[in-house]
Amino acid sequence: MDMPALRIGDLTCSVPIVQGGMGVGISLSGLAAAVAEQGGIGVLASVGLAMLRTEKSARKAHIEVLTDEIRKVREKTRGVLGVNIMMALTNFSDLVETAIREKVDIIFSGAGLPLNLPRYLTEGAKTKLVPIVSSGRAAALICRRWLRSFNYLPDAFVLEGPLAGGHLGFRREQIDDPSQNLKALLSGVLEAVKPYEEKCNRQIPVIAAGGIYTGQDVYEIIAAGAAGAQMGTRFVATDECDADQAFKEAYLAAKEEDVRIINSPVGLPGRVIRNEFVDSIEKGERVPVRCPFRCLINCDSTKTPYCIAEALLNAVRGKLREGFAFAGANVHRVSEIVSVKTLIDSLQREYRLAASASACSQQPRPPTPRAP
Ligand SMILES: Cc1cc2nc3c(=O)[nH]c(=O)nc-3n(C[C@H](O)[C@H](O)[C@H](O)COP(=O)(O)O)c2cc1C
Repeated sequence: MDMPALRIGDLTCSVPIVQGGMGVGISLSGLAAAVAEQGGIGVLASVGLAMLRTEKSARKAHIEVLTDEIRKVREKTRGVLGVNIMMALTNFSDLVETAIREKVDIIFSGAGLPLNLPRYLTEGAKTKLVPIVSSGRAAALICRRWLRSFNYLPDAFVLEGPLAGGHLGFRREQIDDPSQNLKALLSGVLEAVKPYEEKCNRQIPVIAAGGIYTGQDVYEIIAAGAAGAQMGTRFVATDECDADQAFKEAYLAAKEEDVRIINSPVGLPGRVIRNEFVDSIEKGERVPVRCPFRCLINCDSTKTPYCIAEALLNAVRGKLREGFAFAGANVHRVSEIVSVKTLIDSLQREYRLAASASACSQQPRPPTPRAP
C-alpha cells in the first residue's frame, strides 16, 4: 500500500509529506522546489529573507526577495508550494500580502495564533490558509474566530508536537511531559475540529509534525488520523537544503545529549544543537545586540540577551561559533546527507513495509490443524 494522497481543498499532493518551513534561510527555493517536484509540499521560510541577501532589513527588500524565491520555485516545478510566515514577525502583513499576490498554494502560519489571517484573502484568491497549532484548544479557537469574523474555516491545520525543531508552542515543563505526545495531541485536534467539519460539511485535514523520522512513523501517524506528516530535520540533511554544508555537518555530528532547549527572544522555547554559543547564552552571558533588523514583535533589543536573527543568519552561513542550529529531537539519528528524491523514496519504502506488516498482523490466523 502506497502513501495516500494529501488533499487540501482543490489541491492534491501524491506524497502526503510537507517539508516544514525552516528559517532563517534553511528552506529557500532550492529545497522547496525539490520537495514539490517529488510530489510533496515544498515550503519557503519567509523570515529574514532580506537580511540573507543585503545585510539590511528594508521593508521593500523583504517583499522583493520573497517574490523572487517564489518565482524561482515556479520556474523549476509545477508542484505544490507553501510559504511559512510567523505571526511573531513585524512584517507579517507584507509577507502574507506578497504570498497571496504571487498565488502561492498555501500559507502556513504559526509562532502565535493567526486569528486574522483570512482578512488578507483578496477576491478570487485560491491560496489556502493553514495555521500551525500545538493543541486542540488553539485549533478550536481559530475555527471559532475565523467562522464568526470571516465565515471561513482553516483549509487544514499543522499540529506541531514537542519533539519538533525550532520554536515550540509549549511551556518548558510541557516539553518532556509524556501526556503531550504527538498521537494524544492529534486526537485532541481531530476532536476539536470535528464539530466545525460537521457544521460546514467539509473536511479539515490535520498534518502532524515533530519527531516524525521514518516511513513507519508516517504510517503510524496517518493510521492515527493525520492526513499527512510535516518534517523538518530530515530535510535539512539533503543535498538540496539551502543551508551551508557546515550547518548540515552539525546535524551529522550531533549526539542525543547535544540537543538542548533554549529560551528564544521570540518568546518561546526552541530546540537547538548545543555548541559554545548555546553554552554562553545558557550561562546567562549576553552577546551585544545592535538590532539592525527589528524583525520580532516581542523582542526588546535593550533587554534581549542576544539577537536571534543574527545567530540564525550566522548559522545558515556556516558560522556556527556565532550562532546555533535549530533541530528536532531526532537529529542524532541523522547519519547521511542524501537527495530529496532518495529521502522520499526511502520514506515510501518504509511506509509500504509498515503497512503490509500491519495488514499481515490483522489477518485472521489460519486454524491450527487438529492433532491426529
Ligand atoms: C532548522 C529549523 C528551522 C525551523 N524554522 C521554522 C520556521 O521558520 N517557522 C516554523 O513555523 N517552523 C520552523 N521549524 C519547524 C519545522 O517547520 C517543522 O515543523 C519541525 O522541524 C518538524 O519536526 P522535525 O524536525 O522533528 O521533523 C524549523 C525547524 C528546523 C529544524
